[in-house]
Amino acid sequence: MAPAALEIVFRERSEKCSILFGDNLLDRLPLGMFSGASSLAIVSDDVVAKLYADRLCDRLSRQSNTHVIVMRHGERHKNVVTVLEVAKRMSDIGLDRKSAVIALGGGVVGDLTGFVASIFKRGIKYFQAPTTILSQVDSSIGGKCGVDSDWGKNQIGTFYQPSGIFIDGSVLDTLPEGEIINGLAEIVKSSIVGDRSMFDEIDSAPEVYFSVQKLKSLIRRTCEIKAKVVEADEREKNLRKILNYGHTVGHAIESSSGYRLSHGKSIILGMICEGWIANKLGIFDDGEFFRQKNLLLKIRNHYRISATLDRKRILSFAVLDKKNEKGMIKMSLPEKLGRMHSGDDGGFSTPVSEELFLRSLNCLKKELADASD
Ligand SMILES: NC(=O)c1ccc[n+]([C@@H]2O[C@H](COP(=O)([O-])OP(=O)(O)OC[C@H]3O[C@@H](n4cnc5c(N)ncnc54)[C@H](O)[C@@H]3O)[C@@H](O)[C@H]2O)c1
Repeated sequence: MAPAALEIVFRERSEKCSILFGDNLLDRLPLGMFSGASSLAIVSDDVVAKLYADRLCDRLSRQSNTHVIVMRHGERHKNVVTVLEVAKRMSDIGLDRKSAVIALGGGVVGDLTGFVASIFKRGIKYFQAPTTILSQVDSSIGGKCGVDSDWGKNQIGTFYQPSGIFIDGSVLDTLPEGEIINGLAEIVKSSIVGDRSMFDEIDSAPEVYFSVQKLKSLIRRTCEIKAKVVEADEREKNLRKILNYGHTVGHAIESSSGYRLSHGKSIILGMICEGWIANKLGIFDDGEFFRQKNLLLKIRNHYRISATLDRKRILSFAVLDKKNEKGMIKMSLPEKLGRMHSGDDGGFSTPVSEELFLRSLNCLKKELADASD
């Protein structure tokens, strides 16, 4: 059976990106999608490559000469050193401007590979084959690529759209349990920004959603939310900012922990803070705010926070956030579950004072202390 597809259309450039879904998709990718490529390279990390690179390589080799490039796994390696190593390997094996690369892995591999593709010989085609829940519902879609630096997450990067995205549900069967929270956090975020009925479903039995099998049922719906937003605002001029909900505080917590606290865990905490800020600003009414907070705290009970939440240090990372303007912290905030606040200018971006930012962290610390009593 042909894999089911979703399309993102970029009207200004008359381009589109197909998102294909299906179990065991890696074994039956439509080879026509790679027909213009002079050669192919799969970029993967050392964990995922062992599991899936041979399978994908077998399939792609039917179309074109295919190489495999392996980087080390983990956020620590999402940096410019790895960018240079991967680009050098691509050059050594003879990739040219007509070659294409396929990112096989989680968000780390996807973000880094997209970035290398965007700068290698001034840009070559690339495809995403995401293998974590987070990368399937979020990072593989929308063309944000880049790497981390000493001064913060994703501070070096580009917008560069993949030519296709391959979402194979069966690869999630090998995902370590610890990765579930990262996918769940982005799915909950998507429900708050754009799908109230999905929020209701998760809220009715959150414990059930700590399972890969259960989360699989929400992957396509979550992709649809992101695809619609990216299609409407590819370059994050306004609407796309809603997808950053929880990420201003969340990224700052993640960076300040030296990446010891994972992305998903940090984003859950970030949404608790940013929901509180929205409520204090009178945007998010009490009833909605409490429902959101209660769900996030229930999810939070499933993991330990292995980092001290140093408020000043977290603030020092937040002031470097890419969404800030003229030194002012800016956030996209919810006004209802399933709907974000557009603001008077329709920019989906609300200025937040440093004082309110710090108070939200105080409030978070109090909630966490109360929960552990
Ligand atoms: N570009 C975007 O729009 C965007 C959005 C959200 C997050 N991100 C980025 O995504 C990154 C996080 O991605 P992630 O959560 O996928 O982490 P990850 O890429 O580090 O993968 C997590 C771990 O799981 C392993 N793994 C991956 N797939 C596996 C599988 N199927 N079976 C067994 N092991 C597997 C990996 O080797 C790694 O050790 C962060 O760098 C974040 O900044 C980017």
